[in-house]
Amino acid sequence: MIELRTPAEIEAMRPAGRFVAETLQTLSEETKVGMNLLEIDRRAHAMIRAAGAESCYLDYAPSFGSGPFGHVICTSVNDAVLHGRPYDYTLRDGDLVTLDFAVSINGWVADSAVSFVVGTPRDEDLALIDTTERALEAAITAAQTGSKVGDISAAIAAVARGDGLSINTDFGGHGVGRTMHGDPHIPNDGRAGRGFPLKPGLVVAIEPWFLQTTDKLVTDERDGWTLRSADGSRGAHSEHTIAITEDGPIVLTAR
Ligand code: MF3
Ligand code: CO
Repeated sequence: MIELRTPAEIEAMRPAGRFVAETLQTLSEETKVGMNLLEIDRRAHAMIRAAGAESCYLDYAPSFGSGPFGHVICTSVNDAVLHGRPYDYTLRDGDLVTLDFAVSINGWVADSAVSFVVGTPRDEDLALIDTTERALEAAITAAQTGSKVGDISAAIAAVARGDGLSINTDFGGHGVGRTMHGDPHIPNDGRAGRGFPLKPGLVVAIEPWFLQTTDKLVTDERDGWTLRSADGSRGAHSEHTIAITEDGPIVLTAR
């Protein structure tokens, strides 16, 4: 079911958006070569407690994961791109890191992700991150009242294909509200002019993610959660929660 939020409800979603933005900003600045993924999770958990926020991940047990996630942030490194479950791994020079983070505050959720490199970056990793960020920007620009979900999808796909990447549509954007994952689904590929009409009050997470040389994912057998590229190539992911209004999109998780 698709729910539309009143302007007052969108205002009430701002604290969650702001907290998710600030936390990702702080954690991406603090994350350096030599830092352990479990340390990032502990830092995020401490910030959640201090803010009186509630994690959307800790007890999350959807069909696409194995049991409760058990951590408050996704840390996906190199060939891991989505749902990276933090584990005892110390970051090395040149690692490509994605942090994906969602909480609720006063019952309203915000969800956002950012990718970056620690230490000396490889050009192709910076290019991949840049593609996901430009795809997200194009998608937000397309998220106008009167357009359709397919316009968002097509905007993402055009940027990816323009940069020679293939697209996996198994995981994509989603409605955001009292819970993290609601309707509509927003695939990272689709046809302009098709799909659900974008109306004022629709709040969605848009999340382009791409892999360097494949569109196939495999689930990490060790944790039953982390999604890695099938060929070992690296992935990047960029996500914001936005509200569609008469006056254009509001990026609730803008950093
Ligand atoms: N925040 C992710 C998304 O962008 C979902 C992560 S689910 C988790 O939709 F359980 F892995 F944390
Ligand atoms: Co999301």
